[in-house]
Order: sequence, then structure tokens, then C-alpha cells
Amino acid sequence: MASAFDPGRFDRVAVVDFGAQYAQLIARRVREAHVYSEIVPHTTSAAEMAALGAKGIILSGGPQSVYAERAPLLDPEIYDIGVPVLGICYGAQLLALQLGGKVARTETGEYGRTPLRLIGVAASHPPLTSPLFAGWPERSDVWMSHGDSMVAAPAGFRVTACTENVAVAALEDGDRRLYGVQFHPEVAHTERGQELLRSFLFDVCGCRPSWTHTSVIEAAVEAVRAQVGGSRVLCALSGGVDSAVVAALVHKAVGEQLTCVFVDTGLMRSGEAEQVESTFRGQFAVDLVHVKAADRFFYALDGVTDPEEKRKAIGELFIRIFEEVAADHALARGAFLAQGTLYPDVVESGSGSAATIKSHHNVGGLPEEFGLELVEPLRLLFEDEVRAIGEELGLPAEIVWRQPFPGPGLAVRIVGEVTPDRAELLRAADAIVLDEVRRAGLEREVWQAFAVLPVIRSVGVMGDERTYAYPIVIRAVTSEDAMTADWARLPYELLERISSRIIAEVPGVNRVAYDITSKPPGTIEWE
Ligand code: XMP
Repeated sequence: MASAFDPGRFDRVAVVDFGAQYAQLIARRVREAHVYSEIVPHTTSAAEMAALGAKGIILSGGPQSVYAERAPLLDPEIYDIGVPVLGICYGAQLLALQLGGKVARTETGEYGRTPLRLIGVAASHPPLTSPLFAGWPERSDVWMSHGDSMVAAPAGFRVTACTENVAVAALEDGDRRLYGVQFHPEVAHTERGQELLRSFLFDVCGCRPSWTHTSVIEAAVEAVRAQVGGSRVLCALSGGVDSAVVAALVHKAVGEQLTCVFVDTGLMRSGEAEQVESTFRGQFAVDLVHVKAADRFFYALDGVTDPEEKRKAIGELFIRIFEEVAADHALARGAFLAQGTLYPDVVESGSGSAATIKSHHNVGGLPEEFGLELVEPLRLLFEDEVRAIGEELGLPAEIVWRQPFPGPGLAVRIVGEVTPDRAELLRAADAIVLDEVRRAGLEREVWQAFAVLPVIRSVGVMGDERTYAYPIVIRAVTSEDAMTADWARLPYELLERISSRIIAEVPGVNRVAYDITSKPPGTIEWE
């Protein structure tokens, strides 16, 4: 078994995915309430759902209309297996429709912040209570995003909330424990959204809040031990957060059985190799093989300018070096390979465009043909959980909060041929960008901030001298998941500081530009 751990030890909630990214956000919010959540496809049958043993089911929103030709449906028998269901937006409409209610394409869609009014709170004596809205005032703001609207609840259901334009904004059948809300409790703009989710999880489903970072670490450690027994485990450190957390976790589980391999390609960010050394060899006393391979990478990149060829050359050499290390240390036979696969990769793989777009990003990873059984202790975790666990395991903040970095490193940020001098120049400029962004307190707000070196020259003047030197392009973006991104509105003063420092401190640069392209149409990296 490719290990994560046995989720059976945690109460769990199934989040049914009806498309787009809604399900992942809901799943994260559930986990923030300390309940384990798992994303399941909408094609899951009632029998499969029952076998899953979930204590609650949440139907996510989705981009379609319930009346669209290929609208994703749910096996209606799922409403009868006795597990509480909460439908959100599309999920609520689908639930209403499948159980005999009415959904109409009204002229009154609602988008954005919308005042919600609970029904029967003030008017009836005693007030009508819904476990979902316990403690809510009669009116509060929620976040809406729908064109179709529910116009009649199914038999046995009661309408619990409305808005100015929509008569059915929430509904429930308390006896069958079926609930629907038209608004999005998972987004921060819904004032009491997290409270509503908690009420569903704890008061309706009776979940225990056992999904904590400590218990996740414990479960992962146990699973790694059970999987690898007394065998050796190899882990390729990249300098980034995922592989660092994997290594720290596996080390906690099996100590000296772990060997970490760090291949210094000469294309890393400033200080990264030193950080890996001091953390893993110094702090954790891990058996670390540090391969200083910069010369080999520059040799392999000699004369290469095509972005895909660069990636290929780097990827192939990386694998060759890794194989050499494994052979040298007589490690490969019967060993395991620890890898930092995360939950979004697992959910997205095999489905739609997200998977295709990401496939070229596996460069720098190790191929399946490598033949080692994988240990993937982060397989069920989201990025924010990985960071939290990394902090709990004692990894330094510099690693835990490190921004994403492409496997081929600085090579895909030098637009043109990669040489040691150019890598050195870019590394120095990049360090200034990050340093200033960090000082401005924006490091965690931007997804990535870095420098790019287009291999062209332009004319400038410094002192009395005419210069003819490289430009540096600053790229800084905000993003949720790297699939789309916007250029970060960095303050002018910050850009000015970065620009002056780069020109003053990095010889060979006489001009600094700021990239103001979003993704799409641009990509985050330049190659
Ligand atoms: P793009 O440039 O496609 O990048 O908008 C999206 C995210 O992926 C990272 N990236 C890579 N990561 N190997 C990786 O491991 C790669 O070859 C690679 N190319 C891009 C990029 O830094 C951004 O976070």
C-alpha cells in the first residue's frame, strides 16, 4: 500500500465534488474544525458511500446549473443511508430537486454579499430552531453565487432562511437530517460560515474533533513504521517545504533507517543548500548525502536554450545522479522512496485539465520506473496542513514558509543559455527581491516573488560611463494554487528599493523591470 495512514482512526466527512475548486475549500474548512474530510466524486454510489463510514456528507457547489444537459447528479439513494447530508449551493439545489422540490431559473440570481433572514426565529413562540443556525441572530450577511434558485422545498422539509429575492435560501428535514443552504458557508465573507459548518459537524453528525496536527503526525509516523518495517528509506530533499516535511516525518518514524539525498544543481536559491545542511545534518542529525553537482548540470546545459530541452536535460541528470547515489550506498535494493505527494495532486490526478497542466512540473521528481516502493505520508494533506506539521516537527520557518520553486530551478528563469556566471548573477538579484519582500512583511502574502534574467543587453549610464548590461525582471504574483495568478501590486517604494539595490549590488545589471502580466495569459515562470 502506498502509505498515508489509516484514516479510519478519525471521524470523517465525505465532501462530494461537483466540479471547480469548491470541494477542496470545503474540505479544508472541515479540517480546520479538526474533522478529517475526504473528497469523493459525485459518481460515488450509495453502497460505496455507506462503506466509506463517513459520519456526514457535504455536497459541494459546482459551476453548472442543475438543469444543464450534463449536470452532475448524485445517487439519490444516498439520501436514505441514514448519514446526515448538507448541500451547499449547487449541492442544495440538487438535493431539493432530487427529493421533489422545485428549482427555477429565476431572473433573480444573487452574487456576492447578501443579507440573510432566518425564518420563524422572531415570529414563533417558542422560536423555531435549526441546529445549523443555533445562536445566529435573525439577520446576518452571507456570500451568494447562484443563477438558479430553489423555489419550493420538498415534502417533509421546512424553509429555514430567505433573502430579499429568494424565498428558499436554506431548508431542512430535521428527522432525516438532510440540510441545504443556498449560500457558501466555506468562504470567509459569510459571517458565520465556519460556525455553521461546525454545527453540522458536531451537533448534527456527532463528529469528534480529533484531526489535530499532533494526532496527524502520530498517525503518519505509525503508518510509515508499519509500511517500511526495518528497511531503508531514501528521500530526495529539494530544499522546499514538502520534501523537508516528508524527511522530518520519516526521520521521526524510523530514525537512522532514513538517508536523505540533496542534489545541489548549482541552480538553487541563495542560501538553500546551507539551510538544508544545517537543518538536516545539524539539527536533525539525519544521514545526509549532499551531492555537489553544479559542474555536471552546467555541462549538461551547455548550449541549451529551449525551455523544454533544459527541463529534460536537468530531469535526466537528476535521475542519473540519484541512481548513482543509491548504488554507491547500496541503498536501492529493498529500500523505500519517500515522496512529498500532497492531497490536491491526488484529487486532481486523472481529472481534467489541472492534471495535464501540472504534468510538466514533475521534472526534478523521480519516475515510477525507479522501482522503489513509495512512502507518501503527506498524501492526504493540504499545503497549509503540511506547513503546520512542519512547524510542529521543529523545522525552521525559513523552510516551512519557503515559496514554491521550480524543480529545474534558476535554469527556467534564465531566458537563454544557462552559464555559471549568469546563475550567480540571477541568484544575487533574486536574493535581494526576496529579502526586500520579506522585510516589507509581504513574503507570505505573495505566492512567489523572484527575479528573472532575460539574456539580452541594453544601454545605460552609470557615473560617466556608458553601460551595456543585462536587465533583471521582477516577477511577483498572488495566487491560491498556481493555476491562475495575478501580478502582485507591490508598493512603488518597495519596487524602488529592490531596483536600486539590484543595480548597486549586482554587477552586470543596469536596468530593472516589473512584470505586470497575470496568469493566464502569462505563466508564473518565464520558461
Ligand atoms: P507556471 O510557470 O506554469 O508555474 O505558471 C506554476 C507553478 O509551478 C512551478 N513550476 C514548476 N515546478 N517543476 C516544478 O517542480 C517545474 O518544471 C516547474 N515549472 C513551474 C512554478 O514555480 C509555479 O509555482
